[in-house]
Amino acid sequence: MASRTNFLLHAFVWLALAATAFSLSPKFYDKVCPQALPAIKKIVQAAVHREQRMGASLLRLHFHDCFVNGCDGSLLLDSTSAFESEKNARGNLNSVRGFEVVDQIKAEVDKVCGRPVVSCADILAVAARDSVVALGGPSWKVLLGRRDSTTASRSLADSVLPSASMDLPALINNFKNQGLNQRDLVALSGGHTIGLSQCAIFRNRIYNATNIDPAFAKERRATCPRTGGNTNLAPLDPTPARFDTAYFKNLVKQRGLLTSDQALFNGGSTDKLVKTYSMNAEAFWDDFAKSMIKMGNIKPLTGKKGQIRVNCRKVN
Ligand SMILES: *[C@@H]1O[C@H](CO)[C@@H](O)[C@H](O)[C@H]1NC(C)=O
Repeated sequence: MASRTNFLLHAFVWLALAATAFSLSPKFYDKVCPQALPAIKKIVQAAVHREQRMGASLLRLHFHDCFVNGCDGSLLLDSTSAFESEKNARGNLNSVRGFEVVDQIKAEVDKVCGRPVVSCADILAVAARDSVVALGGPSWKVLLGRRDSTTASRSLADSVLPSASMDLPALINNFKNQGLNQRDLVALSGGHTIGLSQCAIFRNRIYNATNIDPAFAKERRATCPRTGGNTNLAPLDPTPARFDTAYFKNLVKQRGLLTSDQALFNGGSTDKLVKTYSMNAEAFWDDFAKSMIKMGNIKPLTGKKGQIRVNCRKVN
């Protein structure tokens, strides 16, 4: 009896070890570099204080990294003779930003840790969380231990990043391909409670859509002409520097800025959840944190796969 218990215990411990060896953990840097996470937080706070929009930019970097072959820092790589940078993909070109902040974080963590032990992929995951917190949103324990890719794919980025013109079925399918469900789609779209968008991205909606509050369309047209002004900015919700429920309250009033925003409240299966989030910040925050962790778990490189880049823009 005792030996049988012993055997089961051993088997259990071994399985638990095998399971944790290659999965992410919030404690990954606790022993190897306890200064890493506070250092990241400090730089993100300063960057967001300097320019509030940076919070949304850093959140978006993690999202656009994870959707293209997993959260592996591939988005940060510049073009080489071997591959074209994901920065040039349709959903990224002239819109992804924050790379200088990532470079600054990388230099600082390598300095405080004494050597390059923190991956660029993990920096993106932590910076995304710290950005949300800096703008008054929820916090969560970021799972860590991702390693960095040695390659990138512009063509994959072109095919998998969701676009602002997608309707609900396209969005649901796009997220489903990443293992994310409708709840994840709505919660993560709530990231648009912070940040701005460019006229070229929402022009078609404010001039052509029928599911839009006419007063809101008129207001937006004032700074987004039919032609020209492509890079003119407008807030994604009325409080673009506060991680609140205004994004969802806006959708209920047909004041979503992007086609893909209003698609979440347009008579379809996600209407109910949008309504819930619009009235319940806690429900939104809880689900957002859960979905961020789920998104952060997309195909990480762990163990001996990949590398810890010294420069996030280049393979070692
Ligand atoms: C409105 O829709 C039409 C037809 O799809 C398109 O040709 C036109 O460019 C759109 N207008 C704007 C301002 O985007």
